[in-house]
Amino acid sequence: MRVLLTGGAGYIGSHTALVLLERGHEVVVLDDFSNSSREAVRRVEELTGKTIPVIEADLADREVATAALADVAFDSVVHFAGLKAVGESVAQPTRYYRVNIDSTLVLLDLMRERGVDKLVFSSSATVYGDPEYVPQDEAHPVGVGLTNPYGWSKFMNEQIIRDAQVAWPELGAVLLRYFNPVGAHPSGRIGEDPSGIPNNLMPFIAQVAVGKREHLSVFGDTYNTPDGTGVRDYIHVMDLAEGHVAALERIAAGVTTYNLGSGTGSSVLEVVRAFGEAAGREIPYVIAPARGGDVAETVANPTKANVELEWQTTRTLADACRDSWAWQSANPQGYTA
Ligand code: UFG
Repeated sequence: MRVLLTGGAGYIGSHTALVLLERGHEVVVLDDFSNSSREAVRRVEELTGKTIPVIEADLADREVATAALADVAFDSVVHFAGLKAVGESVAQPTRYYRVNIDSTLVLLDLMRERGVDKLVFSSSATVYGDPEYVPQDEAHPVGVGLTNPYGWSKFMNEQIIRDAQVAWPELGAVLLRYFNPVGAHPSGRIGEDPSGIPNNLMPFIAQVAVGKREHLSVFGDTYNTPDGTGVRDYIHVMDLAEGHVAALERIAAGVTTYNLGSGTGSSVLEVVRAFGEAAGREIPYVIAPARGGDVAETVANPTKANVELEWQTTRTLADACRDSWAWQSANPQGYTA
């Protein structure tokens, strides 16, 4: 396959590009580099020995994107492009809806015009809201009690893709609901490079470990969980990348939804301990008030993906901490060093 990766220079996109290339597929990256780096693509080329055509364009801008892709051939798409900072989405709702929704609308029209009928979409476990039960399977209600425009944009995009498929029955779309992606390629050459203060737990811990930040703030320790801190299903980004390849290789007409998670929950304090062991140093932390909009616990039931995609996670939280530390310690300033 020749796969267009929108947002292919980002964290999950770059790891997926690498796995696709290693599986013998070709990739084309479209990215506006608003929160990603050309250096990530260069390093994927270096790791794989393959060349990746890169198109710099804003997918949400119909004219720009159409012109940029006019001479580019591809037969399937993984749509990663979008804004993803939960707190920022509350402060900038119109920007989040414009970018995250318009990019999907433009992409769907472009795909239909060109007869490209295979799409994998980066959705999120956030569509489940505050879970009614844990672990959550794909039948869990969605769109109830979502707390931010980022989450709503994922929910709306799922609906948009379903509606597009009704009007265009040949379209095969897979909605992948990610749980909490962490870790890096084991080489330490590519990884997560958040701009500014990291919003997410593991990149924040990694910056504490490397000495860029003094301590972690643990957001709440009175949740109804074994140690009182939030529980999440952390999935190694290489497992996640492999999940995309499995989905792409099995895509058929219709819309299918899969959870991509490990099925195991870990608390904030468990992650702190695991990272401390991987890095061989203490991670200083303080207990801080709970963060608005956070839920106590989310854990995937990944059975459907295990069975239908013949995919399962093979890497542990300890592996993710080791690889995240390898990336962070070798690249303390991310790609800009
Ligand atoms: N946490 C801290 N301190 C920090 C950062 C996070 O204690 O500095 C805690 C959070 O409270 C939570 C856990 O660590 O209990 C994980 O937080 P993340 O921000 O890493 O991840 P979230 O589960 O909040 O968010 C993730 C994705 C979102 C997605 C959401 C719901 O980043 O894209 O899951 O599926 F919307």
